[in-house]
Amino acid sequence: MSGFFVVFEGGDGVGKSTQIDRLAEALRGEREVVVTREPGGTDLGQQLRQAIMHGGHVAPRAEALLYAADRAHHIATKVRPALDRGAVVVQDRYLDSSIVYQGGARGLGEEVERISTWATEGLVPHLTVLLDMEPGEGRLDRELDRVERETGEYKALIRQAFLDLARRDADRYVVVDAAQSIDEVAEAVRVAVDEALTKAGLPGLPAGPRGLEPWGTP
Ligand code: TYD
Repeated sequence: MSGFFVVFEGGDGVGKSTQIDRLAEALRGEREVVVTREPGGTDLGQQLRQAIMHGGHVAPRAEALLYAADRAHHIATKVRPALDRGAVVVQDRYLDSSIVYQGGARGLGEEVERISTWATEGLVPHLTVLLDMEPGEGRLDRELDRVERETGEYKALIRQAFLDLARRDADRYVVVDAAQSIDEVAEAVRVAVDEALTKAGLPGLPAGPRGLEPWGTP
């Protein structure tokens, strides 16, 4: 595997899609960039996403297995081949979402992590960007789906669970304050990705035309 795998995680409405677009734009140039997501990064994944998110009640264990099935197919058929080609894969959500939502919030515990680790044959991102925001500050501009229609208390638990994962694995996580302006968040992400690319022995990510000017620049 000669590529680079960066994942964005965080609660609903923290601006993941915007920041993924900004990062992909900054990365494009000499290298191949693959932007993808879970659930729904493949044709089969689209069907699984429909089944999980817009159908009726799904039993919690079935839901966890559907996310894991989406993930297994996605990693095997899209992400690993891209990494083997040397691409940078920028992904919206990965197994930490299952640990937090199915393992924590739905009470299924640690087995969820084991199922996803089996599903992905242990593929670990080089960097996970946690976009962290106080619940209620999100920029939601669309109809909420079933998973999103939950209480503020639930959202606070989700936030804390992600922060706990980031603390547990500080080397491969960066926590970014997503309540900052879009440009400030993008710059924090750029700096973290640049550092992780360099650490992986790959060309870094110099400040682009849309990067913030350094302090002191007139
Ligand atoms: P996503 O498409 O990232 O939507 P959003 O932009 O609202 O964050 O994720 C859809 C929902 O799926 C989100 O509420 C979290 C949930 N989810 C899980 O519960 N477990 C998982 O493993 C994944 C990947 C997502």
